[in-house]
Amino acid sequence: MIDMRAAVRFNEAVAKDLFLMGLEAPAILHSARPGQFVMLGLGEGADPLLRRPFSICGRKGEDTLLILYRIVGRGTALLARLGEGVDLPCLGPLGRGFDLPEDGGTVLAVAGGIGIAPLVSLMQSRSGRPCECLIGCRTAAELVPLDALVPPDRVIRVITDDGSSGRRGLVTDLLEERLGRKEKPPGLICACGPQPMLREVARLAAQAHVSCQVSLEARMACGVGACQGCVVAASTGAGGGYLRVCREGPVFDAEEVDWGRSHGR
Ligand SMILES: Cc1cc2nc3c(=O)[nH]c(=O)nc-3n(C[C@H](O)[C@H](O)[C@H](O)COP(=O)(O)OP(=O)(O)OC[C@H]3O[C@@H](n4cnc5c(N)ncnc54)[C@H](O)[C@@H]3O)c2cc1C
Ligand code: FES
Repeated sequence: MIDMRAAVRFNEAVAKDLFLMGLEAPAILHSARPGQFVMLGLGEGADPLLRRPFSICGRKGEDTLLILYRIVGRGTALLARLGEGVDLPCLGPLGRGFDLPEDGGTVLAVAGGIGIAPLVSLMQSRSGRPCECLIGCRTAAELVPLDALVPPDRVIRVITDDGSSGRRGLVTDLLEERLGRKEKPPGLICACGPQPMLREVARLAAQAHVSCQVSLEARMACGVGACQGCVVAASTGAGGGYLRVCREGPVFDAEEVDWGRSHGR
């Protein structure tokens, strides 16, 4: 884990309320795995006091770490105002990333909204190996253009709540169809998005007997396992009790989570 100041290389709007930021952070980038995250300090001095967690969305070149973020509150609004050359505190790589097989068939990435962020990194890392991606979001204006971010051989299918891009429906509809098709099932499903979506992805994966890993979100204070502020309920298979999203996650085997007792966003 490295605590450094990372210079902003670029910070641009890519879709409605969504920004892509490039940070010069080669030391963090070189030891990071898909699914890990960084804690970014956002303001001058102590305001806001707490750093905010963001998935490592991927890389551009050898030394630029990408963050894809949605403006939801004060910290992310401050982030969107930062220009090239500013530097900010950056701690990472943190947490447990996706456990990806060297071979073992197709990895199927399933993204809901801003949940595409860690899955870009996953698709970048699977270059040359079979990888498909299903993306769902509310409307076309919220779709992140992926052409410049992921290898061209990725199979990407889009669905929107209002039918303004791709079909009308939910990403879990696409997943259900994909798993129901006669073609070879994926070797692994990796998903990130709102918790109700992840619960349904976990259910469909279990029904189809396909391994599934989910990246969860929780409000975080320390990001390193000290404050217990980010826990989710563990299944009895994972010993019951609670799991820290920042330390035991953010990526979990879907079977480790007690979906009935976890009520995140
Ligand atoms: C491991 C991890 C990875 C993440 N990766 C990304 C990413 O790649 N891109 C991205 O845009 N966001 C990501 N998030 C969520 C991001 O951390 C929050 O959106 C951010 O902290 C909000 O800060 P804020 O000051 O703007 O909002 P605040 O003013 O703190 O809160 C504003 C609103 O956002 C909600 N919110 C705040 N934090 C979270 C959170 N962690 N999860 C869900 N809702 C939250 C609050 O409930 C509130 O409604 C990630 C969160 C985690 C835990
Ligand atoms: S944020 Fe402190 S334990 Fe996870």
